[in-house]
Amino acid sequence: MWTALKSAAEAGKTRSITELFDRDPDRAEAFSVTACDMLFDYSKTQIDAASLDTLIALAKDANVNARRDAMFDGSQINETEGRAVLHTALRNLDGGPITVDGQDVMPDVLRGLSRMEAIANDVRASDITDVVNIGIGGSDLGPAMAYLALSPYRDGPRCHFVSNVDGADIADTLRGCRPDKTLFIVASKTFTTIETMTNARTARAWLTDHNVPTDGRFIALSSNADAAADWGIPEDRVLGFEDWVGGRYSMWGPIGLSLMIAIGADAFKAFLRGGQAMDRHFQSAALHENMPVLLALVGIWHNQGLGHATRAVLPYDNRLSRLPAYLQQLEMESNGKSVAMDGSDLSVNSGPVVWGEPGTNGQHAFYQLIHQGTRVVPCEFIIAANGHEEDLRHHHELLIANCLAQSEALMRGRSLQEARALMADAGLSGDERERQARHRVFPGNRPSTTLMVPKVTPEILGQIIALYEHRVFVEGVILGINSFDQWGVELGKELATSLGPLVSGDAPADDKDASTQGLLVYVKRFS
Ligand code: F6P
Repeated sequence: MWTALKSAAEAGKTRSITELFDRDPDRAEAFSVTACDMLFDYSKTQIDAASLDTLIALAKDANVNARRDAMFDGSQINETEGRAVLHTALRNLDGGPITVDGQDVMPDVLRGLSRMEAIANDVRASDITDVVNIGIGGSDLGPAMAYLALSPYRDGPRCHFVSNVDGADIADTLRGCRPDKTLFIVASKTFTTIETMTNARTARAWLTDHNVPTDGRFIALSSNADAAADWGIPEDRVLGFEDWVGGRYSMWGPIGLSLMIAIGADAFKAFLRGGQAMDRHFQSAALHENMPVLLALVGIWHNQGLGHATRAVLPYDNRLSRLPAYLQQLEMESNGKSVAMDGSDLSVNSGPVVWGEPGTNGQHAFYQLIHQGTRVVPCEFIIAANGHEEDLRHHHELLIANCLAQSEALMRGRSLQEARALMADAGLSGDERERQARHRVFPGNRPSTTLMVPKVTPEILGQIIALYEHRVFVEGVILGINSFDQWGVELGKELATSLGPLVSGDAPADDKDASTQGLLVYVKRFS
């Protein structure tokens, strides 16, 4: 099946996007899809009808629909960890039963949501002014990203997100908090993650140092209630979740508590409803009208087909500034693998490097390379038709204009002839005109997609996040990998644990390589 994609990509790589538009007046409509409240336009790519057929065939060949149903049904599709994958159950607000090992999980999910709501309401009604979520990876990035994205909806206490084991993170955060008015949420699925447990201990010491009793100051969000209890957090302050909720898919449940505290239960449920609406679309739309499937196929076209190793995510929304970081974990931890589910080597590239920054800031930083560098970087623009600052509509119009201008510039480019004319207008001639013109050429024909949403409300954010989750799932299914484990993070963790005593000088470093030994000597000399 990959051979067909490779030959389609070979035929498509020099295809002119502008010519595709010239030939087909309906192209924008034909290569766009709407779902829930969103529009995904992938017409500014080299994908034509034939290559789309090849991509759809790839999805069919990989049994995307059957795998999708298996995920929603609670089958153990996370085969390397022997787990179901059911973050979708957390947003199945008014859905039917979902069974895992013959047991309907929905009553527990709904009970968990009610407990979350009760705790969030209590905190919102209390004199707590600051909530500090201590977590890392999936126990941090989702709520941190959404808290910022939905800041116009915040009517609860301030939230802070401490993740890094670098003491600077917690020190800088606590500097702005009052010990008697601060609540800590220790968010860790495993409750063993060294960064989180170190920061949690520091938080506890901070309260004690300020003579504030630690009772009632900690809430745990974890699948490991025993470890939370051992740490001293009583059962009634632990919000648990099952192992079928992966860390990077966990913001829909207890891990989203900080967000719920900030925006309230109703707005949080609107976020869940948005996710659920995207689930329904994903489950019911035909492949060629299915937004997550199409996002995945466009990604596969660019990465596995054309060999573009990275993808820039460019939200034209300042409050979505953490979305690229969130997507980095979602996509790269899920699909950054080179072994297929059956243990064989992957015959194509693993998922792409995902990176980005909000527009328009990125335009004045790295877009130079995107427009004129030697490598092609497929770009994914995200923009809302409306901002929240109604009195600043002119800002938003400029934002939209910039976003659309970038995708047009990437596609059209500027020819040498056009650049020469510009230089001639500027009064240059001869060799100087030629030399200057060459620097002003834009190769163009660079692909981009645009996701348009009405406004980044809680519900729409839910749609966006579920869209990306399912996109990652579809990509993983087509690659034949397990998108739900993360063995690649283990080795570094093990080595960090063994290096701890070497850094503090409590153990000899003899068995380490010469480079590591040299670096440790330097640390010792200056510490
Ligand atoms: O090290 C990777 C990872 O396991 C992520 O998958 C996870 O989101 C993060 O660490 C945090 O894990 P935990 O929630 O168990 O502290």
